[in-house]
Amino acid sequence: MTTATVQPAASSLGAKPSRPTFNFSAGPGCLPEEVLQIARQDMWDIGGAGIGILECSHRGKIYDKVLAEAEADCRRVGNIPSNYKVLFLTGGATSQNFMVPANLLPDGGVADYLTTGYWAEKSYEQARLYSEHVREAFSGKASRYTYCPKDDEVSYDPKAAYVHYCSNNTIMGTEFHHVPRPPAGVPLVCDMSSDIYSRPLDVTPYGLIYAGAQKNLGAAGCTVVIIREDLLERNPRPLPQMLQYRVQAKDESRHNTPPVFNIYLTGQVFKWIERQGGLSAMAKYNAEKAKLIYDAIDSSGGFYRGHARPDSRSLMNITFRLPTEDLDAKFIAEAAKNRMIDMKGHRSTGGIRASTYNAMPRAGCEALAQFMKEFQRTNG
Ligand SMILES: Cc1ncc(COP(=O)(O)O)c(C=O)c1O
Repeated sequence: MTTATVQPAASSLGAKPSRPTFNFSAGPGCLPEEVLQIARQDMWDIGGAGIGILECSHRGKIYDKVLAEAEADCRRVGNIPSNYKVLFLTGGATSQNFMVPANLLPDGGVADYLTTGYWAEKSYEQARLYSEHVREAFSGKASRYTYCPKDDEVSYDPKAAYVHYCSNNTIMGTEFHHVPRPPAGVPLVCDMSSDIYSRPLDVTPYGLIYAGAQKNLGAAGCTVVIIREDLLERNPRPLPQMLQYRVQAKDESRHNTPPVFNIYLTGQVFKWIERQGGLSAMAKYNAEKAKLIYDAIDSSGGFYRGHARPDSRSLMNITFRLPTEDLDAKFIAEAAKNRMIDMKGHRSTGGIRASTYNAMPRAGCEALAQFMKEFQRTNG
């Protein structure tokens, strides 16, 4: 469902942004300008209905269409096979930390977790509430979470109910550039919160994918879950209805009143991605943008020190440090004066983090790379 007055462009990648500020926040992150303009219009009057999207009943015809389009667009963009359900839930990715084991892990069962960073550790800790046999099949702690492991570094248990990993470690700035391969028959579960739909995706190796929308897919409040249908039937324990994937699937993600606006917005982001040329166009654009900043790090002669091992560098969150913490702070403050905001590293790691999600314009990365060179010249 789109508005009558805002006519979306075929592709706006590389277009000059009309707002002067570049938002490098790790999430909620920047949104495509075009999506915001469409949403502004639809908030006032969606599709000529005389009311805005925020005022629509979740059981009415307008929302029926919004939801159907969001699901169809999500499936088309991600090439999601028909034996997977797409759910739009609430509670953020953090709620998936307990929903996954609650729905998939029997009492006393084994589950394997690859703890490659802060969020993956949170997922592991929550799963431990369900079984003492939840294992760290790989821990990145000793190497300060600087990389994502290859399969021969992971000790998989073939009896595991599933293997969980986080494809992009938002805080550490590391990203898997391959899909882990658990033993045959063990479903793969992935927290894709910070890199979903940033590159082509083959859903078939996965049993379940989840992502909070507020980085690449929209606004906080909507969590996308893509789940293989056979997993809906596992049902290892009685659970409140709201927490059961199969109830949410049966009730089309509206067991209760869903966040109508947030799901609408995520739907608009799927349409935007498709207009840009889909996931392969996003991947190319994201690689070009990240390269601008990694090149500035690599050519700085050690003034900027990246956290991630080069083979695990994230294209979404670029983490680095300057020679001193004082210089880190000065860099962040001066960047903000130059309208490049929200680059302070997470409270657990410090340093600098520039998040370059799908909606970050190339102009933002060019401006940051230029600023990094100038800052080094005057402070190096
Ligand atoms: C990879 C990852 N997982 C989980 C979370 C937590 O998400 P939420 O705040 O939606 O619960 C985040 C948030 O930044 C994240 O980056």
